[in-house]
Amino acid sequence: MVTHASTPCDLVLFGALGDLAQRKLLPALFQLERSNLLHPQTRLMALARQDGGLEAFYTETRERLALQVKDGELDEAVLTRFFARVSFIQLDFKQPEGYRKLAEWRSGSSAPQIVYMATPPSLYGAIAERLSESGVVTESTRVVVEKPIGQNLETSRQINDQLGRHFAETQLYRIDHYLGKETVQNLIALRFANNLFATQWNQKYISHVEITVAETVGIEGRWGYFDQAGQLRDMVQNHLLQLLCLIAMDPPSDLSADSIRDEKVKVLKALRPITPENMETHLVRGQYTAGNIKGKAVPGYLDEEGAVPGSTTETFVAIKAELANWRWAGVPFYLRTGKRMPQKYSQILIHFKPAPHYIFDPDQKHIANNKLIIRLQPDEGISLQVLTKDQGLDKGMRLRQGPLQLSFSEAFKAERIPDAYERLLWEVMKGNQYLFVRRDEVEYAWRWIDQVIQNCENLNMPPKRYAAGSWGPVASIAMITRDGRSWYEDT
Ligand code: BG6
Repeated sequence: MVTHASTPCDLVLFGALGDLAQRKLLPALFQLERSNLLHPQTRLMALARQDGGLEAFYTETRERLALQVKDGELDEAVLTRFFARVSFIQLDFKQPEGYRKLAEWRSGSSAPQIVYMATPPSLYGAIAERLSESGVVTESTRVVVEKPIGQNLETSRQINDQLGRHFAETQLYRIDHYLGKETVQNLIALRFANNLFATQWNQKYISHVEITVAETVGIEGRWGYFDQAGQLRDMVQNHLLQLLCLIAMDPPSDLSADSIRDEKVKVLKALRPITPENMETHLVRGQYTAGNIKGKAVPGYLDEEGAVPGSTTETFVAIKAELANWRWAGVPFYLRTGKRMPQKYSQILIHFKPAPHYIFDPDQKHIANNKLIIRLQPDEGISLQVLTKDQGLDKGMRLRQGPLQLSFSEAFKAERIPDAYERLLWEVMKGNQYLFVRRDEVEYAWRWIDQVIQNCENLNMPPKRYAAGSWGPVASIAMITRDGRSWYEDT
């Protein structure tokens, strides 16, 4: 059966030859084409500063697609169908000329227009203004923007104001690509479709939560950008806080964007500040030195290409976050994220409290609590660690902890797990904002991160060193051990 987006749309892609478009967006659109999810009349306008015309765009895109999609997926017939949708305009994003051509392309079209700004955020204001002046913006225009929305609360407000002058909040789709990941959405289903968990989801039954987003990569030629951001701004302000929100939020009254986003905002507002007084016990910043990743020697952060000596930017963060509300009082959320870790994986772990009265072998008491493991990547899936009796006459009533497991690739065998950007583009085409971040979410997240960064600067706390290929500074282990717990490693 052929299904496709119910309405055609005109997709306008700024920065079409840039890294984000070529590495993520065009492969995602190509996959939507393969899956027959693009309406036959959907058109794509590729806009780029580089000259070379449509042919150069085709050549570049074909080469990059070959690197991104799996063997056998780069079907020529699909590619021809996809390329037939594309037009190209070379333009200087700040000058009006190119926008006139864009207006000509749009004239006569009644399809909703989606503008994707795959450009640095410093250009969002100018692009929004030129688009408005050229008359191509209508009430049905949807605008997609990427992080970082600012460097702090103040600059994020400036960007949001610039966009807000030309577009209503209902027209703005702020991407956090973690929200497009299949398992992240499954979190919503898991939490709100299973009464089993709904009744246990609070401080009475949960002792603590761990969220780990570990990467093996270093800075990958982005030193200049990354050094201005650091792991707190690049990963915690957005991806990790979004995951925390989805775990900690109250059930929304429906699946509408605002119901979900209202609940997430309440979580952000309930985050206890990290203050100069509790900094020592609640925050660890790290920076990697030279080491080995999978047997290969890699340089330290300060020896990466383009590095400025003496930088104190963090490439690793561990935080003990706490929420000041009834549901989560006394339940720490340990967040951990770093570059150059031994493995790439993202995982959420819910540790349940043990049963109120323990009757089994005292030596096994330490294993007697349930864990829910939500694996975002790789090997997407959910596993619930439960206790059963070990098999065999000689084992008596010895306990055994084992998984009740749902591996998505096993369970949905024939289906490929779509990339986050496929999901997100698909939702923009349908005009559904629930997987996108509202202005107040961005700003509350900045408010919390700003004070953390400010305190680090005031207290002059340089990051602690850790060798590439390790799980971060030992202080991160000490942080959780102090509470009588340990990071869960399932390597
Ligand atoms: C991006 C960060 O938002 O997310 C990068 O800017 C990071 O520094 C990336 O590498 C991680 O995304 P994923 O999907 O590979 O986990």
